[in-house]
Amino acid sequence: MKMNNIRTIKGGGNLRGKIKVSGDKSISHRALIIGSIAQGETTIEGFLHSEDPLSTADCLRKLGVNIPEIKKDEPFTISGVGLNGLKEPEEILNCGNSGTTMRLLMGLLAGQEHKNFILTGDSSLNERPMGRVGKPLSLMGGKILGRERGNKAPISIEGKKLKGCLIGTPVASAQVKSAILLAGLKASGTTSVIEPASSRDHTERMLKAFGADISVRGEFGRNVVIKSGANLIGQKILIPGDISSASFWMIAASIVPNSEILIKNVGLNPTRTGILNVMDSMGCNYEVLDKSIVAGEPIGSIKVKTANNLQSFTIEGDLLPKLIDEIPILTVAACFCDGVSEIKDAQELRVKETDRLKVMTRQLRKFGAEISEKEDGLIINGQSQFNSAEVDSETDHRVSMSLAIASLLAKGTSKIIRADASNVSYPAFWDDLAKLVN
Ligand code: S3P
Repeated sequence: MKMNNIRTIKGGGNLRGKIKVSGDKSISHRALIIGSIAQGETTIEGFLHSEDPLSTADCLRKLGVNIPEIKKDEPFTISGVGLNGLKEPEEILNCGNSGTTMRLLMGLLAGQEHKNFILTGDSSLNERPMGRVGKPLSLMGGKILGRERGNKAPISIEGKKLKGCLIGTPVASAQVKSAILLAGLKASGTTSVIEPASSRDHTERMLKAFGADISVRGEFGRNVVIKSGANLIGQKILIPGDISSASFWMIAASIVPNSEILIKNVGLNPTRTGILNVMDSMGCNYEVLDKSIVAGEPIGSIKVKTANNLQSFTIEGDLLPKLIDEIPILTVAACFCDGVSEIKDAQELRVKETDRLKVMTRQLRKFGAEISEKEDGLIINGQSQFNSAEVDSETDHRVSMSLAIASLLAKGTSKIIRADASNVSYPAFWDDLAKLVN
């Protein structure tokens, strides 16, 4: 990650124009992983050319998958090696900053019998909890070791014959659920995952499209059941734009006076659209247009205009997983609403790329925000007047981009240190900012 970079942002102006945000990060990872273990060719269009999915591509190449050099905005084709075709890598698999890469690969590799793997990441990733994946995989017969009694990378995996079982996950995490489902592809019999609330379901949708025997029982998204034995067949995948990347512009255009933007081709999977619920409570002025379904995922365009008298909001409970990555930008939004907003049940934010509750509080206070941190969330006093500040992404991509929007809302010129953390998920962010802001 190149990150000594400083960006300077002038407050004021307005946002106007049309953009297409880059491809969905979660779906990009899954297209590579599932395409790699399918039979035949998978063609991927709309792939997110950013550090995290490129880490997944690099690891899969080391596992013997023929993935060509991936060029920005160019579709590419990978030749799947089948479920049993991955090879033992000669090198350590480096997952960079990407939790999705590490956790999904743990699930994929746990059942690769008679092969050994070592996974590592950067200093942020190597401090994040991996036991939440290692433990359920061990229940299935996996042999997974790591620092701090298996909880932290570097992680070592000795591929074993797995057995399907019923697993209840203590956290609603799509990464944990996906790891178990990928392990279930090679486990004997049936593997079933029950999560406490529905997390994003891109893995389920994509596995089904490739021909896996997967179904959802009970309430939507709660109990996912996969049977091993089905052949996965290569597909053509068109990846929609990432709503998590679009969210920066959705919030900026709602608050910055005199703004009107159109964001084209945004993924609108209902397990990801929690931000729209919050924008409804805030009283934002937006419209969803051109709805359609592409490759099993709902998409549409989002038109946003400035709204006056935005109202405070509360985020809690089952809504959290549906906007988990949008908490940093929603914290910025809360500073400009009328009244006190509250974010509850958000302990998961403490184990993201940084402790996002702590980091957002620390950084936004520099602009003059009134925020207090609680163990599981934040309380934010609205109607702030932001003054320019020198702030720091603390290496977190979503913090960097949220601070850029906060800078637009500040009086004067602000500086963001380590701004290029944004390359993890949205390298074109600064170009899009220049395009939209007048
Ligand atoms: C992701 C799931 C979420 C999210 C992350 C991407 C995925 O993490 O925060 O950015 O692609 O599955 P958790 O599943 O750990 O909540």
